[in-house]
Amino acid sequence: MGTSLYKLLLLATVVSARRRNAPHRSASDAFFNYHNADTNSTVIVDLKSRLTALEAKNGQLKERLMEQDGRMNARIDSVETLAQAVLSQLNQHLHDENTKQVSFHATGLSNLTPSEGAVLFPTNVLNNQGNGYNPSTGKFTAPFNGTYCFLATLWGDGVDHYIAVYLMVDGKQELFVETTFGRDGDSDAASLQAVVDARAGQSVWLQVLFDSNQFSPYPVSNSFSGFLVSYDP
Ligand SMILES: *[C@@H]1O[C@H](CO)[C@@H](O)[C@H](O)[C@H]1NC(C)=O
Ligand SMILES: *[C@@H]1O[C@H](CO)[C@@H](O)[C@H](O)[C@H]1NC(C)=O
Repeated sequence: MGTSLYKLLLLATVVSARRRNAPHRSASDAFFNYHNADTNSTVIVDLKSRLTALEAKNGQLKERLMEQDGRMNARIDSVETLAQAVLSQLNQHLHDENTKQVSFHATGLSNLTPSEGAVLFPTNVLNNQGNGYNPSTGKFTAPFNGTYCFLATLWGDGVDHYIAVYLMVDGKQELFVETTFGRDGDSDAASLQAVVDARAGQSVWLQVLFDSNQFSPYPVSNSFSGFLVSYDP
């Protein structure tokens, strides 16, 4: 055998041995490898575009979130402003309620036999919340617009005398009461009650009609009282 033939045989053996050791590669493997590569790149492109879309969406969501955040903050601010306004109104109202308390009660009369048209004024001031009652004029002056209640209890004393008294509101005759007691010297009582809408600055007082009024000298038997029922803002 010549050397060249020997070499050729040896090469053939090596090649066949290599073929046997090499992994089996079919046509379908090649197909899938090709398509895998293709798929992988498609997936990558797809993923990239999805990622871009997601990033864009994320950006939009962030913007929307910030917008909503801003709107929420604005709303919280406006609610806070409203709450502050309501609170200060409430405080003002409470303050008004506290400072707009008006009442008075006075007994005793400066003059037991006042002449016709005189103001009948109790001078012993037992209560004068809000200082509406002036004991030196006998007139109550409304400090606020509102509804007031006025009460008077009068006790007449003496033979052939009267109680004839008006409740005057801002110079007008609001209410009148009259009693007559005879020659036996009986006592007689009269009372006046009125709920009156008065404006700030208007005065209310008791005024006698006739000359022959005569009142009891007991210090607590004649009284003039009043109070604010409701404040008219
Ligand atoms: C494609 O991806 C698969 C895994 O999903 C991987 O085994 C294969 O090597 C990839 N092909 C290429 C060409 O990158
Ligand atoms: C009181 O009421 C009158 C009208 O009835 C009004 O003109 C006036 O402004 C009121 N005063 C106050 C202090 O509210």
